[in-house]
Amino acid sequence: MELDKIDRVLRAASTAPMGIPPSDVGVVVFHGREKVRAFATDMAEVFGKSRWLGSPAFLAMLRPFMGKAMYEFLKNFVAPLVQLTLECREKGIDSLFYDAPAALLFHQSPYADPADSHIAATYAMIAAESMGLGGCLIGTVAPFMNMNKRVKAKYVAPDGNKAGIVYVLGYPAFHFQKGVRRRFASVKRV
Ligand SMILES: Cc1cc2nc3c(=O)[nH]c(=O)nc-3n(C[C@H](O)[C@H](O)[C@H](O)COP(=O)(O)O)c2cc1C
Repeated sequence: MELDKIDRVLRAASTAPMGIPPSDVGVVVFHGREKVRAFATDMAEVFGKSRWLGSPAFLAMLRPFMGKAMYEFLKNFVAPLVQLTLECREKGIDSLFYDAPAALLFHQSPYADPADSHIAATYAMIAAESMGLGGCLIGTVAPFMNMNKRVKAKYVAPDGNKAGIVYVLGYPAFHFQKGVRRRFASVKRV
């Protein structure tokens, strides 16, 4: 992946609107598979230390204090995600970043609207796709990174900033003939 292409994606993403100007969003650029793999290694370590989040004992203990949706999210999504990530890693499969040749980590200050980094990443994704690149937004990494002081400090500066979302990008193996048709869960006209 040429650095010039990443710079063009970043230029487009920097035009994203923000809750209160100027932008409080920062971007960490991982250029090249080696850099992305090193990032995946750091995150796998964090996932390994977070196994307790989905453990039956932890879930049973906190069940009375959390809502049904949070309980089911931890049990049916977070726990299997941690398990799968670590199993894939043992087999040499990068299930976090799909062995992408580039990744952008969007982070933001505590004063920013929590949506800011996501909107900037969405702009990056649309720009990349318009350039014939492909990619995937990765939302699973930031919450884990924000729980680990050491790994967060390695990538996200200044210290008070929080990781928001990762966008991995590269050259797509498949080209879609047409856009995927989707529907909102609901549309209510009032
Ligand atoms: C906020 C957000 C977070 C996402 N996080 C992940 C992720 O952590 N891992 C992943 O493989 N895909 C992730 N995705 C990609 C979605 O799963 C994917 O876009 C969706 O299933 C639709 O599939 P498509 O984009 O291939 O059409 C995320 C997408 C969004 C919008």
